[in-house]
Amino acid sequence: MDVKMKFCSDCGAQIALKTEICPHCGVRQIHKSNKILKVCLIAICGVLLLGMSAVLITFFTISGEEKTKRVPLDEKHMPAYELFKKTQSKMEVDKGCPTCHFEPGGVPFPPKHPKAGDGPMRCLFCHKLKLV
Ligand code: HEC
Ligand code: HEC
Ligand SMILES: [Zn+2]
Repeated sequence: MDVKMKFCSDCGAQIALKTEICPHCGVRQIHKSNKILKVCLIAICGVLLLGMSAVLITFFTISGEEKTKRVPLDEKHMPAYELFKKTQSKMEVDKGCPTCHFEPGGVPFPPKHPKAGDGPMRCLFCHKLKLV
């Protein structure tokens, strides 16, 4: 079939690509579906981009150096640094934080501190280690 040809959406006759009304059966050709698909794709992309930028913005806001204090490089936190050097896993190091940082009774959190949901708190996601 010639590249510039298509089949009638109704009777199936081979007709020129740009044909609006089929010369064989007189039915108007459906070519909207392509446009609708494109519009949908653009809409989906837009939503995805918006979602992604929202995630990125949140990430930078909560992990920004100005917003959260780094894990102090003192003797209380040295084991965390050593564990990180050994395991290279922030998830692993996170597990040690609640031994001192818990409420009530432990090292308190500020009043507006993010609360742990289900599962472990990813302390090091927000509070960076002082690594060089
Ligand atoms: C051995 C107990 C202990 C462990 C384990 C511990 N902390 Fe702490 N942390 C403290 C104490 C006590 C303070 C109060 C400030 C100080 O004296 O360093 C503190 C303070 C902090 C601060 C505030 C620092 C500042 O400048 O005000 C952050 C942030 C912090 N810890 C994060 C963590 C994270 C993240 C972990 C897990 C990797 C962790 N800590 C594990 C005892 C601990
Ligand atoms: C979602 C991000 C996030 C996570 C996860 C998180 N923090 Fe924080 N943390 C913050 C923010 C933001 C502040 C400052 C809050 C404020 O000043 O009201 C803070 C403050 C603190 C402080 C007080 C020091 C300061 O900045 O005034 C300590 C101590 C602390 N966090 C420890 C921890 C520990 C331990 C964990 C893990 C159990 C943890 N945080 C998990 C965001 C987080
Ligand atoms: Zn036709």
